[in-house]
Amino acid sequence: MDFTLSEEHLMIRDAARDFAKAELLPGVIERDNKQEFPTEQVKKMGELGFLGMMVDPKYGGGGMDTISYVLAMEELSKIDASASVIVSVNNSLVCYGLQAYGSEEQKQKYLTKLATGESIGAFCLSEPEAGSDATSQKTTAIDKGDHYILNGTKNWITNGGSADYYLVIAQTDREKGHRGINAFIVEKGWDGFEVGPKEDKLGIRGSDTHTLNFNDVKVPKENRIGEDGFGFKFAMKTLSGGRIGIAAQALGIAAGAYELARDYSKIRKAFGTEICNHQAIAFKLADMHTKIEASRHLVMKAAWDKDQGNNYDMSSAMAKLYASQTAMEVTVEAVQVHGGNGFVKEYHVERLMRDAKITQIYEGTSEIQKIVISRGLLRD
Ligand code: CAA
Ligand code: FAD
Repeated sequence: MDFTLSEEHLMIRDAARDFAKAELLPGVIERDNKQEFPTEQVKKMGELGFLGMMVDPKYGGGGMDTISYVLAMEELSKIDASASVIVSVNNSLVCYGLQAYGSEEQKQKYLTKLATGESIGAFCLSEPEAGSDATSQKTTAIDKGDHYILNGTKNWITNGGSADYYLVIAQTDREKGHRGINAFIVEKGWDGFEVGPKEDKLGIRGSDTHTLNFNDVKVPKENRIGEDGFGFKFAMKTLSGGRIGIAAQALGIAAGAYELARDYSKIRKAFGTEICNHQAIAFKLADMHTKIEASRHLVMKAAWDKDQGNNYDMSSAMAKLYASQTAMEVTVEAVQVHGGNGFVKEYHVERLMRDAKITQIYEGTSEIQKIVISRGLLRD
């Protein structure tokens, strides 16, 4: 067993770290306050190759492994989790989904633009009545021969307003249940496709989350992904990889908050000494660091499983479950270590605490991860 990162991995990690400090940190508080999408920063991340990291270079991607991706996600998330969720959705849901299951024509037409960041993607599974219970799709895609007619509502869609291309899951044949679900590529601007208002959120406020409405949207048959009825499996398989990205995001949020708390504890004095010399604070740091290391091992193991071609449904669920819980616990403690300063925006930890919460909810809540893990255990 070798825990050493390669030269290439270290370079990618450092590039992401440098970018986050130079380009994401300035303005991160303002974007959070204003709920402002990081348009310029996303453009630069596209130019640097962060939006299609694992995509085959023949489609414009970086051809990197999942380890590289999680290293970058951790570094970006230490500073700006709003920017990192945009990266995560584009890389591990949209690009991965198209690369793994799209047709050659779909890859040429859509993936090439998504991998370079020329276009941004969104992944649309959730509905008002189908969140955790994802097979209960109400959105319909009626087969009309050479096209489908799409009707329904998707909600909570990340990149909802800023995306160009949307992977939309919909029910074609209700009698077949989840085996009658399909996935489609829908372009912004098509007749009947309407982007609803932006959600006003607790955290990741720089990312734009929207409801989407589809009213008799005509989708050409060549925009269906995979065989008829593959849509639910497409969503599940894609989400297994997506969860590695969100686990890495949670890890980064925790690590970012920990580093701020550690540094603060070395300069803030109380009772005549730096607060890190009080055992209560030093032990908090020890607990935070231990949980972060444990999360990092789970995240790396899930990424490694994916790179090795192993099944990663359980390892990605375990990584997300544990890293997101760690993100919550560590960010709360980071605020505590900062005392009153932790409660104000300029010290960053309150934002990281707000951002941490979403990692326990999206791409499958913690309860859903436990369903995936326990079913996997019992099946084995
Ligand atoms: N790979 C392949 N197939 C899978 C699979 C996987 N990982 N998981 C399930 N399936 C298949 C099953 O084999 C089954 O097919 P067959 O009957 O043909 O065998 C079918 O899918 C249905 O599976 P279940 O019976 O297990 O379905 P269920 O109704 O019990 O639900 C669930 C399972 C795991 C709870 C699933 O509904 C789920 O993951 N829910 C959470 C949804 C979610 O994560 N949403 C995230 C939206 S995207 C997002 O959030 C992005 C963002 O924020 C940034
Ligand atoms: P519900 O499913 O109603 O769950 C409510 C509670 O009940 C949760 O605690 C849940 O864990 C629990 N629960 C439900 N079923 C069970 C069960 N069987 N056993 C135990 N507990 C259970 N979706 C997308 O498709 N694309 C996106 O880009 C996207 N981005 C998002 C961005 C944000 C900011 C948010 C908030 C959500 C986003 N989502 C997205 C939706 C997200 O995936 C769902 O919110 C999530 O899957 C939970 O679904 P729900 O909100 O309907 O909660």
